[in-house]
Amino acid sequence: MPGSMSKERYARIRKYGGELDLTRGSESDVILTLERTRELMKNPKNKALAQFELFPNYRFLRHVTGNSAIQAVQGVGNGRIAGFTSAPGSAGTLAAGDQIKAAFPEAKIAALEPYECSTLANGGRGQHRIEGIGDKMCTLIHNLLNTDFVILIKDEETVQGVKIFHDGADSLIKLGVGRELALGLRDAFGPSGICNVLGASSWRSTSAWALETT
Ligand SMILES: Cc1ncc(COP(=O)(O)O)c(C=O)c1O
Repeated sequence: MPGSMSKERYARIRKYGGELDLTRGSESDVILTLERTRELMKNPKNKALAQFELFPNYRFLRHVTGNSAIQAVQGVGNGRIAGFTSAPGSAGTLAAGDQIKAAFPEAKIAALEPYECSTLANGGRGQHRIEGIGDKMCTLIHNLLNTDFVILIKDEETVQGVKIFHDGADSLIKLGVGRELALGLRDAFGPSGICNVLGASSWRSTSAWALETT
């Protein structure tokens, strides 16, 4: 993986017993990691899980995450899902949207991208700080024909969101969020999670940088 990612990521991989082989750059330079993987594949001892192109990723997330979302709305509002957002890295999680649309055909799917690296929206190829997403590519498992919108989320807003959830419980409580919920949010989201929250909440807002893909 790229050498300028968060220390939590490296710690998690070491905890699994893995060794790190770091390539240059950050999230926006995943291509270098893929090139390294291609080199490593020349040794038949190595196997790549190939999350960007193999369908177990799509199938697992469509089934597990998609059906979890469908279950989660039972008894909430009209019990239906109107829209699903996910910020693609591999775009595996976006596959949940396909399952949601199968259950609720009126639902729309929005892919979220960093404003600073808006590859699907307009071929943008900049650097950004939302780890796990916006890898400057459209992956083979991304079902583009079922993606209705791209919404662009600004880097700075995700970083501010992480800070508010992490350090701003008192402010959230003053704004009316329940104490237990505000404290529970502290470690619940990283930047890509906040990006998803912002994407979902900007769905109807006029300030959303939404582009219809069709
Ligand atoms: C922190 C984080 N957020 C979001 C994603 C994107 O999820 P997906 O690969 O299912 O599109 C990833 C991908 O690995 C990730 O590591």
